Amino acid sequence: MRIKQIADMVDECNTVADIGTDHGYVTEIILKRNICKKVIATDLNKGPLENAIKYLTLTGLKDKVEFRQGSGLEVLEPGEADIVIIAGMGGLLINKILRDSPNITDKVNKFVLQPMTAVDKVRKYLFENGYKIESESIVKEYHHYYHILKVVHGFEPIYDDIYLEISQYLLNKKDKLIAEYLNKRIITYKNILDKIQNSRKKELIEKSKLLNSKIEKYEELKLIYDIR
Ligand SMILES: C[S@@+](CC[C@H](N)C(=O)[O-])C[C@H]1O[C@@H](n2cnc3c(N)ncnc32)[C@H](O)[C@@H]1O
Repeated sequence: MRIKQIADMVDECNTVADIGTDHGYVTEIILKRNICKKVIATDLNKGPLENAIKYLTLTGLKDKVEFRQGSGLEVLEPGEADIVIIAGMGGLLINKILRDSPNITDKVNKFVLQPMTAVDKVRKYLFENGYKIESESIVKEYHHYYHILKVVHGFEPIYDDIYLEISQYLLNKKDKLIAEYLNKRIITYKNILDKIQNSRKKELIEKSKLLNSKIEKYEELKLIYDIR
């Protein structure tokens, strides 16, 4: 599901770079669907890259793939990849990979980013560094919600920090899963509040305040976007 949805977010192009390819499954779908002509499949580590080489050889796709070992975008030449996919990594690592190679990111048309954690920090980095989210999707797999961001260069104002946590794009679309995700977060926060609200510890009093204000904001979003 997650892997397929990442591939769904990739537009037609000549060359896509699949950074941190691991097993090579995203690369496989892109080539089988003829979305892009060529994939540069990279990984920091030898083991995962060897797995990808083996798997993509077995599936008969190896000739359309260039394999490279190294960190982030450092293995690319400027202008080589039209689209860059960075999926299945922590949000902070994704930010670092983007930040470390401005000469490469400048020449990339689109990015498909799927952070496993800290999606709010990824959105913040994008908004503050000349990127704009063109579209988003969310997928649920084994009780986890994964956010997939299609990103281009540009500027987009953000009117409230709450949209770093909850995708405005998906709220506008009235996406079913974003409603579920929002409600789940409210329940999680309420459960935490139940456990800590009688505490007199200063840090827990602060935490209660923060959680209450988040719940209030989430409830507000439900009203604004007519989410039940
Ligand atoms: C959990 S896997 C994700 C695989 C695949 N992209 C997906 O979404 O299913 C993360 C992969 O990223 C690789 N990785 C970690 N840090 C990296 C970096 N700085 N540059 C390139 N690859 C990296 C790891 O070796 C691992 O194979």
